[in-house]
Amino acid sequence: MKGKIVIVTGGNSGMGLATTIEMARRGAQVIMACRSRKRGEEALANAKLKSGSDHIELMLCDLASLDSIRSFAEEFKASYSVLDVLINNAGVVAIKRQLTADGFELDLGVNHLGHFLLTNLLLDTLKAAEQGRVVVVASGAYKIGALHYEDPTLSRRFNPAKGYARSKLANILFTKELAIQLEGTGVTANCLHPGAVGTNIGVNRETGFGRSMLKLLSIFFLTPEQGADTAIYLATAPELREVTGLYYYRRKIKELSPRAENSAEAVRLWQWSLEQVGLN
Ligand SMILES: NC(=O)c1ccc[n+]([C@@H]2O[C@H](COP(=O)([O-])OP(=O)(O)OC[C@H]3O[C@@H](n4cnc5c(N)ncnc54)[C@H](OP(=O)(O)O)[C@@H]3O)[C@@H](O)[C@H]2O)c1
Repeated sequence: MKGKIVIVTGGNSGMGLATTIEMARRGAQVIMACRSRKRGEEALANAKLKSGSDHIELMLCDLASLDSIRSFAEEFKASYSVLDVLINNAGVVAIKRQLTADGFELDLGVNHLGHFLLTNLLLDTLKAAEQGRVVVVASGAYKIGALHYEDPTLSRRFNPAKGYARSKLANILFTKELAIQLEGTGVTANCLHPGAVGTNIGVNRETGFGRSMLKLLSIFFLTPEQGADTAIYLATAPELREVTGLYYYRRKIKELSPRAENSAEAVRLWQWSLEQVGLN
């Protein structure tokens, strides 16, 4: 990965931080796309120390704000004309129903629509790479997801599983349609389930609520480094140069349930998402 340019969204915590450290160790120039300057700067110092690399930088990007995503893409393109790997890793599980700055339900807004806009804004730089890759950190939770076009903000009967599972189904449908649209460009798009991993997911950043439960359960979980392994594999393995549109678990292709293999749904989601984020 020497000299390759890599963006990791949510690079300050959990698997994103583990991915940042490992990619930097392998010689990449890593841009941590983070929403909080404070958490980002702390993680940046930590990542530089652990990787022994100075080739890591922080750029602010709040995926819950379309303006912030656009500013991030502009800032990135002001410094770089090529992007080798985009790792759409950031993710959130809303415990209560919340809306983003643009009025999207939070999980869908951050996990899917934020990454949808970000990826589209960066496509020209990915195409300019020798072999660009998009890696999407999805989840096996997609299996209980549904898209709910009739109530996109989940104003009726919200529950955390419904919001999160929908966003992760959207991650997979997005990856599959992206792979089709990128055919012939040399850019690949694949997604993965990392397993059950002990990170900060579900922990309230302000109050710390959820942290003690996480500690209690941590013996059952993979470490962030173990959880990041498949994303790093998809981002780096030379044998995957021409592999695209697939879902992985533990470095192996995993069959999807029919709802995530529905190409008509993937096209519908793509069109709907274009309208939501204001792309033509
Ligand atoms: N942990 C698991 O068992 C598991 C299982 C399946 C899939 N996943 C997926 O794995 C990915 C990584 O999660 P993780 O488990 O490593 O959790 P984590 O430690 O909570 O990390 C999530 C990252 O996403 C960032 N993020 C949240 N909202 C954001 C926003 N609006 N804009 C930009 N960044 C934002 C967080 O930033 P802050 O630190 O500033 O909040 C953090 O850096 C997620 O996509 C998650 O859905 C996790």
